[in-house]
Amino acid sequence: MRGRGHALPLVVSLVALFASASRVKLVVDTDIGQNCDDAWALSYVMSRGDVFDLRLVLSSSRNTTGRALLAAKLLALGGRPDVPVGIGTPTPLGEQMQGVGPEWPWIGSFTLKDYPGKVASDGLAALEAELAAASPSNPVWVLGLAPMGNLAAVLGSRPELALNARLVAMSGSISAGYDLRPPAVPEYNVAENVTAAQTVYGMTWGTPAVTAPIDTSAFFQVTGDAYRRFLEAAGGGGGRQEEPPLARVLLENYRVWFEHGGSSHGAMRPFSPANASSAMFDLQTAYMAACAAEGALFGWTNCTQHRYPALDSLPLRLVVDASGYTRVQPSAGAQAGEAQLFFAATNFSMPREAASDAMGAHVVDWIARGAWSLPAP
Ligand SMILES: *[C@@H]1O[C@H](CO)[C@@H](O)[C@H](O)[C@H]1NC(C)=O
Ligand SMILES: *[C@@H]1O[C@H](CO)[C@@H](O)[C@H](O)[C@H]1NC(C)=O
Ligand SMILES: *[C@@H]1O[C@H](CO)[C@@H](O)[C@H](O)[C@H]1NC(C)=O
Ligand SMILES: *[C@@H]1O[C@H](CO)[C@@H](O)[C@H](O)[C@H]1NC(C)=O
Ligand SMILES: *[C@@H]1O[C@H](CO)[C@@H](O)[C@H](O)[C@H]1NC(C)=O
Repeated sequence: MRGRGHALPLVVSLVALFASASRVKLVVDTDIGQNCDDAWALSYVMSRGDVFDLRLVLSSSRNTTGRALLAAKLLALGGRPDVPVGIGTPTPLGEQMQGVGPEWPWIGSFTLKDYPGKVASDGLAALEAELAAASPSNPVWVLGLAPMGNLAAVLGSRPELALNARLVAMSGSISAGYDLRPPAVPEYNVAENVTAAQTVYGMTWGTPAVTAPIDTSAFFQVTGDAYRRFLEAAGGGGGRQEEPPLARVLLENYRVWFEHGGSSHGAMRPFSPANASSAMFDLQTAYMAACAAEGALFGWTNCTQHRYPALDSLPLRLVVDASGYTRVQPSAGAQAGEAQLFFAATNFSMPREAASDAMGAHVVDWIARGAWSLPAP
């Protein structure tokens, strides 16, 4: 009896040690529903429980209740019903489908009461609590896939919390626009809420932020062999019962998005759910976050804050101007501290088709394995 009494706390503390040493805490800020790359990014993150301790999925921008429903449904059906969901600050709805976008019909009859995990109706308080509980030596990684209203609201009022955070964002345009040609343009996540982006870009982070600007992320699509493998994992080959549900659920979500307006979204290569994904801005961002986490956790030189296989990144001092452009400040490296640099993936390190294929193969390999769950103790 005495032995067991001592063993349990030991096991618990060993598990806690294992969890904190081998994974980074992650919050995802997402406008899921608008474009379908958020759902792909979230699915990939769900599969990367080897590096991410997923603490919170926070909905951002326009109809944040509708977006929280989409995130909760993907988490519940895809295999991570334990992850807390937070409802972020709503903003004016815009014109598309209830302020949610083409994925809106996928909500169907799902309600937040159907979600087994926690739902924080005040998502900003949940974000603030995560940041406050973190520290510069054990920061929360923030995967920013949306306009930055939530992040600006919390960090604007408590700027010291940025020292406990590590931002990896889909954000900005450095020298190319959505057609991958110069000039730079106001990128959606910045232009949708310029003052919020100005606040977030102006923070002093504990570690330089990372961004996947449209310069590279607009080119990334899951196509060819990788997409065929995704279809197989989704049950295209006859739908074996024992397959993990994640790929099937993601494909269903993608089809709904495509059929309700997504098909008109631009991409470098034509796409349909039969043969390719649309442009995967947010999925590239999630890939970069996982890669940087691998580097931080395991000391791998292939993956660091500024190195991701297939991509080249530059340390830049970026400032958001009043029109929503992300301007590079020349010679600012010297003036600004390290803490205000962004590592921006501005180019590929190989021909771009090969880079897109390599990232596609990597993410599908993970998504096909399904959502990650804690090994039984
Ligand atoms: C947001 O979406 C939800 C889910 O479809 C819907 O019930 C609600 O009416 C929408 N909110 C607004 C303000 O349109
Ligand atoms: C922009 O973000 C701020 C929070 O920083 C929020 O108060 C405001 O409503 C947002 N504006 C729009 C247009 O989304
Ligand atoms: C995918 O299918 C669409 C529609 O059938 C077609 O226009 C497009 O060329 C195909 N794309 C690829 C990458 O094969
Ligand atoms: C980085 O290298 C490690 C160790 O070789 C490997 O397991 C991992 O998959 C690599 N990551 C990427 C994104 O290539
Ligand atoms: C981008 O990378 C390619 C090689 O993949 C290289 O040929 C090209 O010069 C690079 N462009 C810039 C602007 O650095």
